Amino acid sequence: MDFPLVVKIKKIKQETPQTKSFVFEYPKRAKPGQFVNIWLPGVNERPMSISFDDGKNYTLAIAAAGESTRQMHALRVEDKIGIRGPYGTHYQWKDGQRIAMLPGGYGAGPTYWMATLATKCKIDFFLGARDKSLLLFADKIKKLKNVRFLPSTNDGSAGVKGFNVECWMQEMERGVKYDSVITIGPELMMYAVSKQCAKRKVPCQLSIERYMKCAFGICGNCCVDDLGITMCQQGPVVDNTLAGKIAEFGQYHRDDVGRKKEF
Ligand SMILES: Cc1cc2nc3c(=O)[nH]c(=O)nc-3n(C[C@H](O)[C@H](O)[C@H](O)COP(=O)(O)OP(=O)(O)OC[C@H]3O[C@@H](n4cnc5c(N)ncnc54)[C@H](O)[C@@H]3O)c2cc1C
Ligand code: FES
Repeated sequence: MDFPLVVKIKKIKQETPQTKSFVFEYPKRAKPGQFVNIWLPGVNERPMSISFDDGKNYTLAIAAAGESTRQMHALRVEDKIGIRGPYGTHYQWKDGQRIAMLPGGYGAGPTYWMATLATKCKIDFFLGARDKSLLLFADKIKKLKNVRFLPSTNDGSAGVKGFNVECWMQEMERGVKYDSVITIGPELMMYAVSKQCAKRKVPCQLSIERYMKCAFGICGNCCVDDLGITMCQQGPVVDNTLAGKIAEFGQYHRDDVGRKKEF
């Protein structure tokens, strides 16, 4: 059993019109891809990917999606929150690899963090968003020396007009060969990446998010069909071979009471 540790928020920044980052000191160290459960007393508890761990502080990038996350956006510096974790699996890499990163939305956080650690890898960073204002952490990502920054927006307001998946496929058509593909974001985007990687036999790691409650394998809310494995423990980061065996991946997920919701 894990109990939340109460921490004080040190810093809050509006990163994009949708997303704020929250920084607080936390005693346990994490790896990119792992998540914590953030608890607002009287409101709810919600899973959030760790966007950055500097060895002393965590950063979370939280998008206002519904009631709990809107209340998180109303928090101020010095306010207290409860944190449990870190939980789950994480991304892996080897020195010298050529890596393609395809994040969407708040997925920019863990991928940026991984890029800061994988300094001996050559990374093509295909950051995608609907428009320029939503390109989360773009300024930080483009400063990294091991990164070729390749943004794309649906409306063409920054980078290539279109989806980041198309941009990545164009690079491969040009002959760029990747040792590894890292993706995190909307499931249908990751599903498209997964299919392409399987077809081209490129190793890929992706983050499958399911409705999480306990976060440590007890409640069963995050079990996936047909394997019955828990995404809070055997995920969220899985390799493409495992993703290919998850029948519901790219098809449907379950809500808080286990009802199927198609993508
Ligand atoms: C492993 C993991 C990492 C995540 N990382 C981030 C992150 O870094 N930043 C971020 O902004 N969001 C992240 N999310 C999503 C975030 O947990 C939900 O957006 C948030 O819980 C919405 O809560 P709400 O009450 O504001 O909205 P609601 O209106 O309650 O929900 C909106 C939608 O969010 C999803 N959701 C709600 N509660 C949960 C839950 N307990 N578990 C999973 N999904 C839920 C559902 O799809 C729901 O339809 C992550 C989810 C998971 C599972
Ligand atoms: S969230 Fe409870 S088993 Fe995964």
